[in-house]
This record gives sequence, structure tokens and C-alpha cells, in this order.
Amino acid sequence: MTKWSSDGSRSSIRFGAVGLKGETELASEPLPTATISFSLGEEVDTLRWLQREVQTTGAVPLTEAEAVVRSLAVAMHGGRQVMLPLLQLKEFDQYTTTHSMNVAVLSMALAEFLGLSGTDVRTFGIAGLLHDIGKIKIPLEVLTKPGRLTDEERALMNQHPVAGARMLLDVEEDLDLAVLVAYEHHIMINGGGYPVLRYARDCHPASKLVHVCDVYDALRTRRPYREAWSFEKTLGYLQERSGLEFDPELCGAFVRMMKQWEGQVAVLPDERTPVGPPPAAKPEQTGV
Ligand SMILES: [Fe+2]
Ligand SMILES: [Fe+2]
Repeated sequence: MTKWSSDGSRSSIRFGAVGLKGETELASEPLPTATISFSLGEEVDTLRWLQREVQTTGAVPLTEAEAVVRSLAVAMHGGRQVMLPLLQLKEFDQYTTTHSMNVAVLSMALAEFLGLSGTDVRTFGIAGLLHDIGKIKIPLEVLTKPGRLTDEERALMNQHPVAGARMLLDVEEDLDLAVLVAYEHHIMINGGGYPVLRYARDCHPASKLVHVCDVYDALRTRRPYREAWSFEKTLGYLQERSGLEFDPELCGAFVRMMKQWEGQVAVLPDERTPVGPPPAAKPEQTGV
């Protein structure tokens, strides 16, 4: 990890406005930093198609996944300001699609912030994009349940890392990193989380990196069972859990990166009425 530079000055990644075609509109008040909106509608459609394809055929169309990641990388470097589509979406596939794209963008941003090569950055992007692919195996009523999950439902939900890794292992192309990240992205550095490893071992840096981005994006998004957390509250939570759940070096770099871009990261409005008060900040309720 120490070979990774944490100097973010070389990065040109910007966050501004991403409009998702047919799903939402940008805020009626112009966002101070969103000068040009960048539509990723085609990429959203492609990712939805990809998820359906995995569900029906069991095969992962890697070429299309790579194309989405390339578009996201271009959007990050296009000199335009890109806003993460941190939307509250009503349907599972919409939430998962948006979440997967956000995690891909955040993972690429952090990998670049740490000084990784362009090839590595895109490999991390693919891993971020596919990290929750195992969720397509979880029954929709569990995934979209508005209330707290029962122990049984939680156990089912916790199978998604293993299911995702299995699916990706079946792909002929080399998806080693994506397989690892799908498997490890809910494992905490103190050994908590899931799946439970028979023998304690260190997870791959890419898994730890995606883990931070995953939790950040999940907490910043309103879910049926809790409100979206504020920027400050989310970063506070990450710092609080640094060294327990998150790798301190990666967590510190992520917080520095986000603070550097504070004010440039805007959140699209959510028109839905909240269904209930946000619960206490327990890790099992973060909904990642
Ligand atoms: Fe996950
Ligand atoms: Fe996730």
C-alpha cells in the first residue's frame, strides 16, 4: 500500500452533474458547480441490460462492462463536472444500477488519487461496477423490503458476495480482481463482516478500496429504511470505523479526496417521501 502515492494534486477527476435519462431531472436551482450536465443514459441502459443478461444467461458480458467503465472514466476526465447520481430510486434494479455506477466512479477516482496506472484504474472500475452482481440471485422481496430484515433474510442477503464471485468465476475472460472484490467487499479489516473466513487473512487492497466507496455511496443514498446521510456524517462514520472496518490508509485517502472535492460533489434531489426515521448508525443497518 505504501507504494501508492496519496498526493491527489495530479488528479483531474471532477464531480459535477450526471443526469440519468428518463429517471430524474437535475435540481431546478442550478448547482453552483454543475456547469455542464453529462448524460450517462446509454451507460445506464447498458448496465441494466447487462444485469438482465447475467440473470437470464448466467454469463457476464465483459465487453459491455468495459465499455461502461470506459465511458465513466471519460466522464471523469472530460473536464466537465460530474455529479455522482446519488439518487433515491424506487426500484431495486434502479438502485443497484446507480449504486454500481457510483461505486465504479468512486473506486476509479480513489485508485487514481492513489497514483495507480490507467489500466489499474479501469480494472478497479470493472471490479466496482460488478461488486454487487451477486444480488441478482437474492429474491426481490428481500432486496426491496422496506423494513428491517429478519435473521433469515439477512443470512440470504449476506450470500451475495459468494454468489457474485461464483458468477464472475464462470466468465472465461480474466476477471480475477472482480472475483476477489465481489467476494471480499463486505469483509472488515478486524475480521468482521461477511462471508466469514475460515482462516483470518488480509483482503486484497482493491477489496478494501471498494469497501470504503461502497459504504460511502450506500450511506449517502436514501433507502426505504433510512434517510440519506449528510456528507459530514458519512465521512465522520468512515473515520470512526477506520482501523476497525476500513483500512486506515485507504479510508484516510478517501476522506482527503472527498474533502478536496467538497462543494463539487452535489446530490440530485429526491422527491420521494421518507418512509420512516433513520435508525441508529449500526453497521448492519447501513444497507450496503
Ligand atoms: Fe455488496
Ligand atoms: Fe454495494
